Amino acid sequence: MTISTKPMTTTRFVVEVEGIDLSKPVDGATVAALRKEINEHSILVFRGQSIDNDQHVAFSRNFGDLEIHTVKQYLLPDYPEIIALANRGENGTTPIDNGGAYWHTDISYKAKPPMGSLLYSLEVPPEGGDTMFADMYAAYDALDDDMKARIDDLRAVHGYEARFTKMGEGGKRPKLSAEQLAEVPDVSHPVVRINPETGRKALYVNEGFTLSIEGLPMDESRDLLDTLNAHAMQPDFVYSHHWRVGDLVFWDNRAVMHCATGYDTSYARTMHRTTIQGDMPI
Ligand SMILES: [Fe+2]
Repeated sequence: MTISTKPMTTTRFVVEVEGIDLSKPVDGATVAALRKEINEHSILVFRGQSIDNDQHVAFSRNFGDLEIHTVKQYLLPDYPEIIALANRGENGTTPIDNGGAYWHTDISYKAKPPMGSLLYSLEVPPEGGDTMFADMYAAYDALDDDMKARIDDLRAVHGYEARFTKMGEGGKRPKLSAEQLAEVPDVSHPVVRINPETGRKALYVNEGFTLSIEGLPMDESRDLLDTLNAHAMQPDFVYSHHWRVGDLVFWDNRAVMHCATGYDTSYARTMHRTTIQGDMPI
């Protein structure tokens, strides 16, 4: 299999990968080439794919073990590795129509947050329902030297409960159970994260799950997080993906944060996500 890539942004942030059929097994050399690409580019877009659940899981496993999400009512009954982001539910899953509509990095609230996510689109509305991605390498690089020096050794606390509760306001989500809460205690991560494979530094805070900066008074911590989040969300660092049916987007959670945009929920939107386990951030 010979893959080729085509830039989708003027920076090195996003590329479309061509010459690959994800419904077929992928050989080791191609997996190695894709790993190299995602370290280089952070977001790989595969268009015009037609894959079933087994093929989605099999392709994802080439990059590591898969995460099983804490909230089981979103998981496909026969495929716990797949979270269904489906506004009409799917096979008994709880419908999600506002999932991810805030800037976040998937599951940054775990001690070992996932390395990557692979989102596959099955049904999309004609307009909206896009996913915006922010390039956290470029965001870090663009900080001035004083800010870099200020944050380089800081750590931040990440948590899930507050966000889950906020997204469930108005009775949209049940409360997390004691067992689920036990799975997601607050954790702390470096504010600047280094990709161990390339040595590149990325800003690693997000609006969704980062609660505070360790060791700072609450108001100072809030100000710094607001400043860093606003900095990273600037249009210069953001790529917005407009989904077509059959798109699979593989992004590097060590290097990007993302945010879903709104759409007319009278249209069906069905997406499947697998999530690759990752390492402790350094
Ligand atoms: Fe997400």
